[in-house]
Amino acid sequence: MHIPVCIIGGGPAGLLLSQLLHHEGVASLVLERRPRAVVERRIRAGVLERNTVALLDRAGVGARLHREGLPHSGFSLALDGDAFRIDLAALTGAHVTVYGQTEVTKDLIAAVLARDPDSLVFGAGHVALHGVDSRAPSVTYERDGVNHTITCDVIAGCDGFHGVSRAAIPDTVRMEYERVYPFGWLGILADVPPCDHELIYSNHGRGFAMASMRSATRSRYYIQVPAGTDPAAWPDDAVWDELAVRLGTSGAAMVRGPSIEKSVAPLRSFVTEPMRYGRLFLAGDAAHIVPPTGAKGLNLAAADVGLLADALATYYRTGSEAALDTYSAQALARVWKVERFSWWFTGVTHRFPDTDAFGRKMQR
Ligand code: APR
Repeated sequence: MHIPVCIIGGGPAGLLLSQLLHHEGVASLVLERRPRAVVERRIRAGVLERNTVALLDRAGVGARLHREGLPHSGFSLALDGDAFRIDLAALTGAHVTVYGQTEVTKDLIAAVLARDPDSLVFGAGHVALHGVDSRAPSVTYERDGVNHTITCDVIAGCDGFHGVSRAAIPDTVRMEYERVYPFGWLGILADVPPCDHELIYSNHGRGFAMASMRSATRSRYYIQVPAGTDPAAWPDDAVWDELAVRLGTSGAAMVRGPSIEKSVAPLRSFVTEPMRYGRLFLAGDAAHIVPPTGAKGLNLAAADVGLLADALATYYRTGSEAALDTYSAQALARVWKVERFSWWFTGVTHRFPDTDAFGRKMQR
C-alpha cells in the first residue's frame, strides 16, 4: 500500500498532523502502538496557547474546546507565600485556554476516524522504518498477526520520547542534548473545585508546588518530589497536607478529595538535532522534551506540526522541497527558545540540592 505521508504515533502531534494534512488535501496514515482506550486515558498537559488553539481550529477540532475550555488571562507566582500575578493578557494581548490534552486527543481521534477510519491504526506493533534516506522510504508493522508494508513519500516521526523514529537517524548524524533534573512532579487529579480561578506556581522552602485544573470541577495539583519517588509512598492525605504547606495562603480555598489519578513524572530537558534526516521528519516529543514548568510540551509539539504540515502542503502543491529543507532549522530555532524558557522557569521555581540562602535570593 502506498500513502503520501506515514505518521508514526497517534498522540497529539501525529493526530494533529494527520488532520492538518487532510485539510490540505494530503493523505496520511497514522500508526499508533497502543489501543485507543489507552491513548484516550492518558493524563498529560492542560494549557493551550493561542497558536495551538488556532491550529486546532484549522484542523477542524476546536468546537468542544471553545465550548468547554477555560480562558485564563493570567497566573500567580508565589515564593514562600508571597504571591503575585502575571497578567498575560496585559503583557501579550492574548490569553491561554485550560483544556486537557486528554480532551484534545479525544477530539482529534474522533475527527480522524469520522473522516476515514482506515487512516488511523491502533495496536500497530513492531513499527519499523526502512530506507529513510532513500527516495522510497517504507514502514512495516504488525497487527493481529498480519505484517503490513507501507511505502510512502515521507515518514513523520511523532512517536514521542520513547518512540522508534529518532533512532532511525544514524548516530553519526544525530546529536542529543539532555539535562535530567534531580526531582520529579507528583501529580494528583481529583474531582474537586480548583482552589483558585487561575494557576498558581509556588516556590516553597520544602519544594515546588502547583495548583492547576482541567475544568471548573476537576483539579490538578503537583508537588516536587525526589527523582524516582513511588507515587504509592504518597497517600492522598499526605499529598493534600504537603500542598497546604507549600501553597500557603494561596491554597487556602483548597478542597480535598479522593485522587482519581496519581503519578510521578520525571523532569528532563532534551533536544535531538537535526529534526529531519532524508525523508524522515521528527515532530513533538519524538524530537524534544521540556520540563512541565510553564506547560510548553504540547504547545511546542503543535508548533512543530504546524510548520511540518505547511512544508508538506507546499511540497505537494508545488513540488518545491524548499520548506521541507528548512523545517529542521526553523523548528529548532523555536525549540531552543522554549527549552531555555522551561529550563529557566524550572530553575526559578524549584528547590535544587544546592539551592542555598543565596540561591533563594537569586530566585526571588
Ligand atoms: N510505534 C507506534 N506508536 C508509538 C511507538 C511506536 N514504536 N512508540 C510510541 N508510540 C506512540 C505512543 O503510544 C503515543 O501515543 O506515539 C505517541 C506519542 O505521543 P506523545 O508521547 O503524547 O507525544 P506527542 O504526540 O509529541 O505529544 C507531546 O504529549 O506526552 C505529552 O508532555 C507531552 O504534552 C506533550 C505531548
